[in-house]
Amino acid sequence: MSDYNKTYGSHKAVFGDKPEKILVDLYKQIDNSSPVLDIGAGQGRHSLFLAENGFGVEALEPSEVGIKQIQKLAEKNSLPIFYSQCDLSEFEPRVDYYSAVLIFGLLQILTRDEIDMLIKSMYDWVAEDSLVFITAFSTEELSFATRKESDKEVGKNSFQDASGMVRTYLEPNEILKLFPDYTVLHHKEFLTDMHHHGDGKEHQHAMIEAVLRV
Ligand SMILES: C[S@@+](CC[C@H](N)C(=O)[O-])C[C@H]1O[C@@H](n2cnc3c(N)ncnc32)[C@H](O)[C@@H]1O
Repeated sequence: MSDYNKTYGSHKAVFGDKPEKILVDLYKQIDNSSPVLDIGAGQGRHSLFLAENGFGVEALEPSEVGIKQIQKLAEKNSLPIFYSQCDLSEFEPRVDYYSAVLIFGLLQILTRDEIDMLIKSMYDWVAEDSLVFITAFSTEELSFATRKESDKEVGKNSFQDASGMVRTYLEPNEILKLFPDYTVLHHKEFLTDMHHHGDGKEHQHAMIEAVLRV
């Protein structure tokens, strides 16, 4: 996790300071009776947005630097956010269910086993009508062919480079097969505009977006 500590330490909004558009468009459909779980909350752009809009939020993030940055902004704006500084494999929910689970930018950095574990665990963390917000990368991504060529294949369309970094790509429409029991409120697969994260190189992603209802 040290890489994220380093990345977050050197830039205050690595993935931008705005929440993903699908959350802005659809957050009003989240039932506010129980908190929202933001898995891999990063520097908190989604947790903070929802807390500002009156939702209870729990930010699950292993990076100490990320958690501290969220805490600082939440305290400054008197926003009540709960924190779980841990890996999702160690996570213990603190409520019976979450009204929504956010999985933004996480599936592409998990192994296939971790993705399977996450999907199974989710059934214990949600209730009927909970929403699940997801972004992930597809095999249409330009980096997919490069990684297939140069990195070690560690699972289906999943690669590990020499530094240990994992990138997992979902096939077109595979996201719907991973969550077969959920109702689809939004599903889109597209090429993003060129952009960069922090001081990183310009690039674009073959992005998958999904919003599902349990
Ligand atoms: C690409 S970033 C996305 C951050 C945030 N969701 C956003 O969209 O701005 C992925 C985040 O997932 C976290 N992460 C990585 N592996 C994780 C794991 N096994 N369990 C929980 N979080 C993890 C990383 O520390 C990182 O902050």
